[in-house]
Amino acid sequence: RPGWPGILEAYASFLPVTEHTPRLTLHEGNTPLVYADKLSERLECHVYLKFEGANPTGSFKDRGMVVAVAKAKEAGKRVVICASTGNTSASAAAYAARAGLEAVILIPHGYVALGKLAQAVQYGARIVAIRGNFDQALAIVREVAEPLGMEVVNSINPYRLMGQQTAAFEICDTLGRAPDALYIPVGNAGNISAYWMGFTRYYEEKRIHARPKMFGFEAEGAAAIVRGEPIAHPETFATAIRIGNPASWDKAVRAAQESGGAIDCVTDEAIAEAYRLIAQEGVFAEPASAASVAGLLKRHREGGLTRGETVVCVLTGNGLKDPDSAMRLASQEALVVDGDPDAVRRALGGLS
Ligand code: F0G
Repeated sequence: RPGWPGILEAYASFLPVTEHTPRLTLHEGNTPLVYADKLSERLECHVYLKFEGANPTGSFKDRGMVVAVAKAKEAGKRVVICASTGNTSASAAAYAARAGLEAVILIPHGYVALGKLAQAVQYGARIVAIRGNFDQALAIVREVAEPLGMEVVNSINPYRLMGQQTAAFEICDTLGRAPDALYIPVGNAGNISAYWMGFTRYYEEKRIHARPKMFGFEAEGAAAIVRGEPIAHPETFATAIRIGNPASWDKAVRAAQESGGAIDCVTDEAIAEAYRLIAQEGVFAEPASAASVAGLLKRHREGGLTRGETVVCVLTGNGLKDPDSAMRLASQEALVVDGDPDAVRRALGGLS
């Protein structure tokens, strides 16, 4: 098999792969670590963007999902189920299709970005949209899955976080060391926990000599960890992280504390601004992903960065997932003109 084999094979020695584990892959992982020239110059740091939108279904979820679905199949399960703000469901639907399993997804009605919904539909998942939010959907999944014999593939499934560790491995493999700090969006708080597990694993195996400080960012209207209590009605336009009671709350807090980092929050306005700056680096990430860069800018403003340090911002999902946000926040629209050179020249007025 030519090229990158996917994470189950590439990182087999770090994953629960046995001789009975199906060699499932959509060639997930091996995503670009893009040097952000403009942000680096502005912040006087070395800023890298880990572009997880380059995964097969366009988000980091594929790393965990390939492991969770392979293990579900190994265990003889026929149906996987998850609650989702969109990306988990797109990934579950894709890997279930690949593995020949059924996927059932519970989503908050009206709060899933268009591209994510389109994926779940096309991959043939059974979609149930609840009148309620993600937290309620996850509570329902926890209640109904076991009696129905379905495998839960939310990040409460330990195989998910094991697979998601591989992004931390890749960053270290690419840089030849760990970054000084990692900036990452926080929703259900699984991914920050997985990265910390990954860095810790590499540290214990002596592949790196130090671990990064972990800085996680919730959206201000959904910042349960920052406030110290669950939020019944979380709100943010970054619907991927519109979550009021994160399942991996304690793990995320421990990652921040043990690493000397923090869990903080950023406003929707700051997320929208970071979303634009990321595009100026030539990278299109979805709004929730921009919480990492918004967090970096916030820490810079607070004087929290050291000149010359190396930081990685995790861009968790592809901008194409959420075309509505892109168009709503756009600073310009297409000029519609007649199809002749003069009309085009006039429209470009003065530009050369
Ligand atoms: N960024 C994106 C694009 C996401 O889709 C998510 C979570 C996060 C960040 C936050 O990661 O939950 O591990 O802290 N999306 C989940 C989903 C909830 O259902 O797709 P987390």
